[in-house]
Formats: sequence, C-alpha cells, structure tokens
Amino acid sequence: MDRISLAIIGAGTSGLLACKYALENGLNPVVFEAEEVVGGLWNHTIESTKLQNAKEAYLFADFPWPSSVKETFPSHNQVLEYVQSYAQHFGLFPYIKFNSKVISLDYFGHSHEEMEAWDLWGGTGKPFESKGKWQIMVQNTKTFSTEVHQVEFVILCVGRFSGVPTIPEFPPNQGPEVFNGKVMHSMDYSAMDNDKAAELIRRKRVTIVGSQKSAVDIAAECADANGVEYPCTMICRTAHWSLPSHNLWGVNFGLLYFTRFSELLVHKSGETFLLSILATLLSPLRWVISKFAESYLRWKLPLKKYGMVPKSSFLLDVSSCTVAILPENFYDKVEQGSIILKRSETIGFCREGLILNGQSQPLETDVVILATGYRGDQKLKCMFSSPVFQKHIIGSQSSMLPLYRQIIHSRIPQLAVIGYAEGFSNLMNSEIRCQWLTHFLSGKFELPSIREMEKDVRMWEDNLKLYSGKYIGRSCIGSVNIWYNDQLCKDMGRKYKRKKGIFAEFFQPYGPMDYVGLAHY
Ligand SMILES: Cc1cc2nc3c(=O)[nH]c(=O)nc-3n(C[C@H](O)[C@H](O)[C@H](O)COP(=O)(O)OP(=O)(O)OC[C@H]3O[C@@H](n4cnc5c(N)ncnc54)[C@H](O)[C@@H]3O)c2cc1C
Ligand SMILES: NC(=O)c1ccc[n+]([C@@H]2O[C@H](COP(=O)([O-])OP(=O)(O)OC[C@H]3O[C@@H](n4cnc5c(N)ncnc54)[C@H](OP(=O)(O)O)[C@@H]3O)[C@@H](O)[C@H]2O)c1
Repeated sequence: MDRISLAIIGAGTSGLLACKYALENGLNPVVFEAEEVVGGLWNHTIESTKLQNAKEAYLFADFPWPSSVKETFPSHNQVLEYVQSYAQHFGLFPYIKFNSKVISLDYFGHSHEEMEAWDLWGGTGKPFESKGKWQIMVQNTKTFSTEVHQVEFVILCVGRFSGVPTIPEFPPNQGPEVFNGKVMHSMDYSAMDNDKAAELIRRKRVTIVGSQKSAVDIAAECADANGVEYPCTMICRTAHWSLPSHNLWGVNFGLLYFTRFSELLVHKSGETFLLSILATLLSPLRWVISKFAESYLRWKLPLKKYGMVPKSSFLLDVSSCTVAILPENFYDKVEQGSIILKRSETIGFCREGLILNGQSQPLETDVVILATGYRGDQKLKCMFSSPVFQKHIIGSQSSMLPLYRQIIHSRIPQLAVIGYAEGFSNLMNSEIRCQWLTHFLSGKFELPSIREMEKDVRMWEDNLKLYSGKYIGRSCIGSVNIWYNDQLCKDMGRKYKRKKGIFAEFFQPYGPMDYVGLAHY
C-alpha cells in the first residue's frame, strides 16, 4: 500500500489549482483523476457553451489568457485549451494519475467517539500531526482493477456540477417510464458528441425542463437547429432574472454588485456594529440598485408578455447565484416562435409527452431534456464510507454545505473541499481557497477551535439566508464575495484591501488580478 501525504481528487480547474499551490508550498501531491484529461466539465459542454464571465474575471491570477484569444467571452474549447496550458506551464501533468476514480474514502486511527470529544480540528488543529489516516480506494477506469492508498490529507475537487443530476419527483404513475419518447438529463446531453446531439434533436419536438443556464443554452441550440417548424418548449418552474449582456442601463454588472462599496449595502457575517448600521442606513440604496437592474431587464426583454417576470428581487437572484447570462438573441427566438416558454410548478409524464399544471391536454413532445441542475452535495456524500461523515458533510436540507471558510468541515479531519460554494467567478474563488488551504497545510496559520469554526459557519449561514432565502442550499457568496475573500486574506496574514487608492478600493470591481501574489509575500 502506497503512503501519500497529500491526495487531490479531481483535475478540473479546482484540482489543478490545488496541485499548483501545493507544489509551490513544498507539498508533494498526487492527483487522482477519473478521466484521461484535465479540465473537468469543460470537456463535456454543449457546442454553444461560452464563458459566462468576461475572460478577465475567469483567469488564473498568474497565467494570462493567450493573446490569440480576442473574444471577451471565450468558447468552451478556448477555455479548455487555456486550462490545459495552465497544467502544462506549471508542470502539473507528472503529478496526475489519469483514469483513476476514487470510489471510497475511509478514515481510520480514531473512533467517532474520540473525534466527537475533540476541541481542535483533527485532535491537534494541525493537518499532518494526527495518527489518523485516510484510506482511499482507487479504481482504474480502463481495467476496473482497484488499488488502496494511505493518505495523510485529502482535498476533494470533484466538481459540483456534474456526476449526480437533480431528477424531479414525479406524481405516481407519471414517471419517465410511461413516456413513449426519449428522456435525458442535460448532463448526458452535454456529454454526447456534437454530431450525436445534433442528430438527437433534429426535426424533433424537444421540451426542456428548467430555466437556468443549461436550459436556456440548450433551448437556443434546439431553436437554431429546428427553427419554428419544430419549436422547442422550455418549462419554467421559477422565473429568475437573466441578463442579455453584462450591462444594465449602460452600467457594468460588476460595478453594481462586485465592488467594496456595493458590499457596504448588505449585511455581512461577523460585521462590526458600524458596518451593520451602515448596511441598514444604506438599505434604500440597495433597493434602488436592485430596482434599477430590474427596470432595465423589464424594458429590454419581453418578460411580461411571456409570463417570465420573476417574483424575486434582482438582489435575491444575485445573492443566490441564479442570474444566468442569456444566449445571444434568446428572446428573438421566443418572439419568432422557435422557443416556446411555459410555466409549470410540477411535471409528470404520459405516453405522448408531459402533463403540466393547470393544462387539460398533455404537451406532446418527442424528447425531454431535464436541465434541472445537480446534487453536488450528494456527490460529496457518496465519497465517504462512514455514515457519520456522510451526515456531517451534507448538513440539513435547508442549509448550505457546512464548511468553515467554504473549505473545511469542522468534524471531518484531514480533509478539505474546493469548488463548492459559488460566487462571481468560480475560478477566482477556487484559486483564493487553494492559496488559503495550502498556506494552512504548510503550517503558516492555525485553525480556531471546532466550536469557533461551527459558530462561524452558523453565522455565515444566517447571513447568507438573509439575501438568498430558500436558495441557501446553493452556498452562493455572490453578494459578499469580497468580504469573504477578506476573511481568507486576513487568515493568511495578508492585506485585504488590495487596490491602489481609496476610489479604486471602493468603486472598482474586484477580480482575480487583485489577488496576484497573495501567497508570496
Ligand atoms: C457547463 C458549465 C459551464 C460553466 N461556466 C462557468 C463560467 O462561465 N463561469 C464560472 O465562474 N463558472 C462556471 N461554471 C461553474 C464551474 O463549475 C467552474 O467554473 C469550474 O470550472 C469547476 O471546476 P471544478 O474543478 O471545481 O469541477 P469540475 O470541472 O467538475 O472537475 C471535477 C473533476 O473531478 C473529477 N472527479 C470527479 N469525481 C471523481 C472521483 N471520484 N475520482 C477521481 N476524479 C473525480 C472529474 O472527472 C473532473 O475532472 C460552469 C459549470 C458548468 C456545468
Ligand atoms: N458558462 C456557461 O455557459 C454555463 C452553461 C451551463 C451551466 N453553467 C453553470 O452550471 C451551473 C448549473 O447550471 P444548470 O442550469 O445546469 O442548473 P441550475 O442552475 O441548478 O438550474 C436548475 C434549473 O432546474 C429547475 N429545476 C430543478 N428541479 C426542478 C424540478 N423538480 N422541477 C422543475 N424544475 C426544476 C430549477 O428551477 P428552480 O429555480 O425553480 O429551482 C432551475 O431552473 C450554474 O452555475 C451555471 O451557471 C454555465
């Protein structure tokens, strides 16, 4: 049995960052990747997928986009090439074991009773000083043979938006099995090669369930393929605000929601009395900015005509990461009739198609694509053999994933998670987290006690609930991303106000370049 000091599971953007920063901090990682490529989900997108952020926001802080990429929103192929060249540039390939799927994680060396009595995380508060170890079972995805490794520390970078899809619950006898056509999840549609996907939808009546980013992208793709002759229907359960571009009445979205000033308008976890008073006093401005965005979107898009005006505020959608960027000319396709929008709280299947709320006739269709999102929490849960850790990692149904700094579970020793909580740019968030984590792993700061970590997690959750309501389960830090980054900088003993000059500090959007060199001085 191999002894490994640090195992990273997954070689998507999060795993690559973890590997790069581990190496920089003198650690010796082994990365287990189930596939034979790096880049994770960027290998399995639909043909039309582009970056949702401008490329300046989705950037490895010390690795610029190549000058050949002129587009503001690069295509999925360009993103994938960029990620691959990052791995190449920093010499990460030798550390990655491809076709190696981790199928179970077992902790041994301490009983659960012993662990429950700990005051400090892992008993010592330190990552590498415990007699406890992880035993990880790895399956070769080609030969199906298995190996077991003993590991001191595990970083889970398995990705939140893949692997375990959300499948709706259907009324009795109205499941997909009664339907004569084809049903699949957007994950499986995205994994198909382009020709097969095109063949599947060509001259078919396609219905898409869901109305977030995967749904609108697939709907636009179907509309482009089939036009008005075979319109595509999109079933929306909850209308959310979505953006045709990053500008609202000519003002960049980042200026409104990703500056230090914009975060003064919202309450933040652990804020001082003064900041709390300020957020209360400025709450009318918070409301005005949200209405400013909504007024633009109501003016720009025919939301009312199609019953797509959200009940939620724009702020709620930003705070719960449910604002999607619309594909080009989405509402033109709706106006032309190549996309039909329908609202329904529930769906059920019958032989000919779907049964929607309040409709006496079924919606006849040939193909149903469930763009209903992912159960990233279940995916993490499945990694653990121990039911106790399974319960710990998930928290409750109505809570965020209970991770300290969105990285460490106070009751799961010698293990961290990267890439779960969403924010303004997921690449930037993973990069800062990896810097924080590898700083901690190399002994540059210590964690507080388990009680303090748990208190902090509760405080964050209570705060995030204020603005994201029932979407708290998405663990979105969208409206307090800078405040969150500040906490990580402070833990690392770094300056957290990172811009030059007071005006820039408060009114310029923060981005990955503001955190360049965070780990180095
Ligand atoms: C279609 C799509 C587009 C997106 N676009 C954007 C965007 O524009 N901007 C943005 O900020 N965010 C975007 N996101 C969010 C996205 O999740 C992140 O940007 C990011 O790339 C995710 O990287 P990751 O490494 O955390 O996960 P993934 O890319 O999912 O990588 C996880 C890796 O872990 C491997 N793995 C999983 N389980 C195991 C196992 N048991 N053993 C071994 N290996 C395993 C997988 O094979 C995979 O390679 C998008 C998400 C999706 C689904
Ligand atoms: N860069 C890109 O181009 C791109 C492309 C695709 C995805 N992404 C990213 O990938 C992530 C996942 O996106 P996603 O669109 O796949 O998932 P998602 O954001 O979780 O959206 C899921 C959708 O399915 C609906 N839904 C869930 N359960 C349902 C049910 N039981 N019945 C009916 N509807 C149901 C949801 O409605 P409710 O709101 O009512 O819950 C929502 O509309 C996001 O971060 C997204 O930004 C990015």
